[in-house]
Amino acid sequence: LGLTKRAPEECQDLARVWEDAARRGLLTQDVANSWGVSLRRANYLRRQIEFTLGIKLPSLGGSKGVETLPRFEHYKIDKKKVRAIIASDWHIWPGEVSFAERIFLKTLEDHTFDYVILNGDVTDQPSVSRHGALRGEERLALVDELEEAQARVKEVERRCKKAKRLFTWGNHDERLDKNIARNAPELAGLKGTTLEDYFKKWHFCLSIDINGRVVIKHSWHSSIHAAHANAVKSGKTMITGHTHRLLTRPYNDYTGIRYGIETGTLAGTMGPQFRYVDNNPRDWHPGFLILETELYKDGSMDVRPQLVDCTLKKPVVYGQTVEL
Ligand SMILES: [Fe+2]
Repeated sequence: LGLTKRAPEECQDLARVWEDAARRGLLTQDVANSWGVSLRRANYLRRQIEFTLGIKLPSLGGSKGVETLPRFEHYKIDKKKVRAIIASDWHIWPGEVSFAERIFLKTLEDHTFDYVILNGDVTDQPSVSRHGALRGEERLALVDELEEAQARVKEVERRCKKAKRLFTWGNHDERLDKNIARNAPELAGLKGTTLEDYFKKWHFCLSIDINGRVVIKHSWHSSIHAAHANAVKSGKTMITGHTHRLLTRPYNDYTGIRYGIETGTLAGTMGPQFRYVDNNPRDWHPGFLILETELYKDGSMDVRPQLVDCTLKKPVVYGQTVEL
């Protein structure tokens, strides 16, 4: 199979991690994370270990284990009526408080929600990015960034004391954890080595499911047709961030209507976080989503998305214009 042997001592170390994961009922993805490699690479390493040591490693759990692992949890909401507010791609940066952020906070103050969902990329974490610093860029220290992020997220917490707070992992949010996994895997589990430790009042998960009909997660497709592709291929209403676009794409077929929804960004689109875009124009839209769902006795469910478009001077929330 074109496999080459690795150093046996190294293979023994890797095999120990694999066998320990099997004992604890973890998944190949967990092993990949602790090794700081991709899933594909982890499977390749497994074969290499087996080949080098002439042993057979145990198979790791299938998708059943997912729900028992908080970090990769598919958080389930089973409720007749749900009223949620969903914002993504905040990319919090010291001194940069966008208009969309202020409208978001005002909306939390004026209305109540069952769920407040920060749908990924709350943080930016350029200092622990795999990408090198851009020309002349002074990198924001992670400690400063996280302190700022904690303070700003606290403003949300203050305004939604009763709501359940959910935080879905975004690609930027994972940078600290990935950095530890890659460069100091022996520190895994130590306090402060995961982003979760900095936002204790939030329940972290990978995705959220409402009554089996709606999926909310940071990203899936990312082309200009993302919303359409997400709705068609998932077979559900799918709500994502990551693209920084704010739009709803209804899709209808024999099974009924569903939506692909992209939830914009809470950040200022010209902010210093986005220096990597150079000075090019960016088709991004500040705003967020209010989502209501209602499940009926006949099994049908209404999904009512209301985008709050913060490119407007006076955005509209529940049919009313908002002024700061
Ligand atoms: Fe993202």
